[in-house]
Amino acid sequence: MAIEDQVQQALSELLEAGATIEELYSSLGDTFERERAASGSYEDIKVLRDRWLGRKNGLLAATNQHWLKKAPRELKPKIGQLQNKIKQSFEVALAKALKELDERQLAHPPIDVTLPGPERRIGAKHPLQVTVEEICSIFSALGFSIAEGPEIETFYYNFEALNFPSDHPAVDEMDTLFIEDKVLLRTHTSPMQIRIMESQKPPLRYLVPGKVYRHDTADATHSPMFHQIEGFAVDKNITFGDLKGTLDHFAKRLFGSSIKTRFRASFFPFTEPSAEMDVTCQGCGGGGCRVCKQTGFIEMLGCGMIDPNVLKAVKYDPEQYQGFAFGLGIDRIAMRKYEINDIQLLYQGDIRFLRQFR
Ligand code: PHE
Repeated sequence: MAIEDQVQQALSELLEAGATIEELYSSLGDTFERERAASGSYEDIKVLRDRWLGRKNGLLAATNQHWLKKAPRELKPKIGQLQNKIKQSFEVALAKALKELDERQLAHPPIDVTLPGPERRIGAKHPLQVTVEEICSIFSALGFSIAEGPEIETFYYNFEALNFPSDHPAVDEMDTLFIEDKVLLRTHTSPMQIRIMESQKPPLRYLVPGKVYRHDTADATHSPMFHQIEGFAVDKNITFGDLKGTLDHFAKRLFGSSIKTRFRASFFPFTEPSAEMDVTCQGCGGGGCRVCKQTGFIEMLGCGMIDPNVLKAVKYDPEQYQGFAFGLGIDRIAMRKYEINDIQLLYQGDIRFLRQFR
């Protein structure tokens, strides 16, 4: 039997037994109260409200219909009063029930907000990236701008404009990976010297980090892709002294002020004179050890004064402008800094390796 009918029936029985109107309403109130006491959730209370106070189909609306409208005239004021009173008391009871639910919810939230959450590992910068940023910031402080360039280059920018004679064995020596005739993966970041000088006027101070490619078999010290930073400055009256001073300062900022540098004569087609800069070995402090093969020094970068032919290729007047340039391998510097003995570790993305640099 539906609850409405039960209520109705209970009321009819009461009426037959000679109950008063007051007793009828108080019996309604009892039924409501029993149902309210059994309502334990927000959903239950919503159902209860609709059932009793619903405007159209609510039970109170029904009693209004059946009793008030059909009651004899003299009873109507009494019934109207009781009807209003019970409606109010239901509303108060429902509001109270809601409030109690709110309080219970607050006291015992469905989740315990005091429990620690699941651990989320925080990502970190790759050791190569950290090294690049550190080097860039040292040169930024000296007024160098940072630029990047294409990894797919033309023969012209990678070699020709950099004063490599086209039949020169250096083209082979650089283990070039060609994509098609005259198009290649850059073997060094030096082509960016040309691209930047071509599109701008001196004075220039630039730092260019990036990937470079050479036809090498991967092993603990070689990778067909690795990273370089190119640096160069072009202005009036730039001398080899500026180059030495700048690079010595850089090495001391990167490795510590106790480090010493030395410059050895070398050769690059795009610089004249050319040099290689060594820094004292950190392993032995310059005394000689296995790392530096007992020399006390470790090779760090190639450098030199920009060759007049390179300046001419970008239509600068070598009589008016001079420049110095340098190029260094980032991977080797990062490996020394973090004592990584296999270059492949830098590229494998092994989370166990990378986690150490958090
Ligand atoms: N590009 C040269 C290399 O890859 C390095 C270099 C750059 C040397 C600039 C001198 C000046 O070996």
